[in-house]
Amino acid sequence: MPVPPESALVISDLCKTYRARDGSGLRAALKNVSFAVPRGSMFALLGPNGAGKSTLINIMAGLVSKTAGSVTIWGHDIDADGRQARRAIGVVPQELNLDPFFTPRETLDVQAGYYGIPRAERRTDEILETVGLADKADAYARTLSGGMRRRLLIAKAMVHNPEILVLDEPTAGVDVELRQHLWQTIGEMNAHGRTILLTTHYLEEAQDNCETIAILRHGELVACEPRERLLSRLTEKLVKVRFAADLAAPPQALEAFLPQAADARTLVFRVQRGDGAVAALLSALTGCGAAVEDISTVEPDLEDVFLRLTRDETPATVPI
Ligand SMILES: Nc1ncnc2c1ncn2[C@@H]1O[C@H](COP(=O)(O)OP(=O)(O)OP(=O)(O)O)[C@@H](O)[C@H]1O
Ligand SMILES: [Mg+2]
Repeated sequence: MPVPPESALVISDLCKTYRARDGSGLRAALKNVSFAVPRGSMFALLGPNGAGKSTLINIMAGLVSKTAGSVTIWGHDIDADGRQARRAIGVVPQELNLDPFFTPRETLDVQAGYYGIPRAERRTDEILETVGLADKADAYARTLSGGMRRRLLIAKAMVHNPEILVLDEPTAGVDVELRQHLWQTIGEMNAHGRTILLTTHYLEEAQDNCETIAILRHGELVACEPRERLLSRLTEKLVKVRFAADLAAPPQALEAFLPQAADARTLVFRVQRGDGAVAALLSALTGCGAAVEDISTVEPDLEDVFLRLTRDETPATVPI
């Protein structure tokens, strides 16, 4: 058995330029993107609409040709060793491209045939079971709901038992319960050693499920690091103070802490974490002459970091 590579995916200086649809020249969709996905990890690729996520995934899948740079999948360069590279990866595209006249069972059979998997070695029922479609095995794809179609696409990508599963917005348009089920399924596949790379616009789900997070913005990689490190980039936290009565104006003793009024009796303060700022605020509150009813704090989350990194201009006031 060959030794498995340290990085399941290695993207180096990847560039893609598209000819603009209106014929006005070339547009860069990916600009010198480089990162590696550790073997066995659960990796999120995030970015606003049009950032280049699907372009990158479609290059890995062999659906879009790159302009420059290299992509190595499970140790195989996609140019030099395309066949082996494609064997190691299963891609679930963003678009629901299924043949409406095939049943899930037929869809998986055709896919298995495409990969040359002998009938005796096919795991059709097991895979349909994994994605919760066993009872729909013989229903026409056109009669499946959107969420079921997405699950069928995941099943299709698993047919050749790839080491790496790449999912482009697997939970888009899927209801809450099914989303939880999908995350559970994806988590189980990861627990069995499969490397997962996915994109999502549900940042909370990425934060809860993925240990490494990369962020694309206008085709450039603006972050790629472990979740904890990314979250610790924001050194501020919010302290929300609710007073016992409406305030005509913020008490003078609190002015130095730059209060923002959330409503007539609530002030919000942005304080640095861990340098005594919270203690200073608390003692100022004690002596400010207004009775405090309640205090709560809000830690920064992935959405805050994401907005900071992907916003074209940082606004003067950050929304609370
Ligand atoms: N076939 C194409 N021809 C021309 N331009 C394209 C083509 N496909 C994508 N683009 C452009 O490339 C850029 C990146 O698109 P891409 O689909 O990769 O973004 P994305 O990050 O997946 O966005 P979303 O979150 O909306 O799925 C966009 O500006 C898009 O208009
Ligand atoms: Mg996309």
